[in-house]
Amino acid sequence: MDSNKRPEDMKRITSKELADEFIDKEIEKVRTQVGDKKVLLAISGGVDSSVVAALLIKAIGKNLVCIHVNHGLMRKGESEQVIEVFKNRMNANLIYIDATDRFLDKLAGVSDPETKRKIIGAEFIRVFEEEARKLTDIEFLAQGTIYPDILESDGVKAHHNVGGLPEDLKFELVEPVKLLFKDEVRVVGQALGLPYSMVQRQPFPGPGLGVRCLGAITRDRLNALREADAILREEFDKAGLTEKVWQFFTVVPDFRSTGVRNGKRVFDWPCIIRAVNTVDAMSATVPEIDYAILKKITDRILGEVYGICRVLYDLSPKGPATIEWE
Ligand code: XMP
Repeated sequence: MDSNKRPEDMKRITSKELADEFIDKEIEKVRTQVGDKKVLLAISGGVDSSVVAALLIKAIGKNLVCIHVNHGLMRKGESEQVIEVFKNRMNANLIYIDATDRFLDKLAGVSDPETKRKIIGAEFIRVFEEEARKLTDIEFLAQGTIYPDILESDGVKAHHNVGGLPEDLKFELVEPVKLLFKDEVRVVGQALGLPYSMVQRQPFPGPGLGVRCLGAITRDRLNALREADAILREEFDKAGLTEKVWQFFTVVPDFRSTGVRNGKRVFDWPCIIRAVNTVDAMSATVPEIDYAILKKITDRILGEVYGICRVLYDLSPKGPATIEWE
């Protein structure tokens, strides 16, 4: 039987009971596969790798070695949440690497979006590889591959990471959620006790804020972007929009516009709010957000974020516009 094919009679995991049943079975499978050997896992803070981490902590405890690389392009509070949930609450064997300077130094002056993506991807593999080399007794690599990854791209997520590592660092894969769809992964994550905000996290691109700080990234503009994004998320949360809008974020372009603050002329950045609804991210519509909410977010960003003097709401559907700006 092809282990990458979901059996036709496999029940859809829609409840805590079904999730618990799945978790028990997978724990047994993982224990049989890895025995008392160690397993390495990169956790990004995203749903899939977080669920795999929680499941493997249950199955093999400290024999799971988690690595969280903070590339400096995370949203506000995300790396802190990874440490809080996995290290403090679940007592995981977690190695935290703050690689912010490495990534930002490599990205300095680079404005082409695809080059930025390549640099971030390649640097991520390099940092991960360096850490993996320090750990001498690891034979397995766990990954948050899910069924759409297998269906859509022939397991690209799996091949991506492993393919990026050198020959002598090739591990046997452990992929406990590879036959699950996203909604099922969320149900399993909830049953494993992960926080709601982690399990329901909206899609966040691998290059993170790097593709939302348009053009060549600078630390001051990246900071402004991160603060503005945090305000947007907080206000959408308060307004009950987090569950209603598929993806939302801010973008800060690499040009300035004139403004006036305390009677003085300033030359600051604009901040664009992007919010979309979609089923499959192939096309997307823009939700009609209550004007009072947009105004509150605007006032807060203008009042609290240094360097921003204008806030705009992007009304463009996909297509012709893409969801991200670059
Ligand atoms: P676009 O901008 O192409 O985005 O309409 C569609 C979805 O893909 C996400 N996206 C990415 N995800 N790496 C990722 O992991 C990337 O480089 C990347 N670029 C776009 C985007 O956030 C949206 O959900």
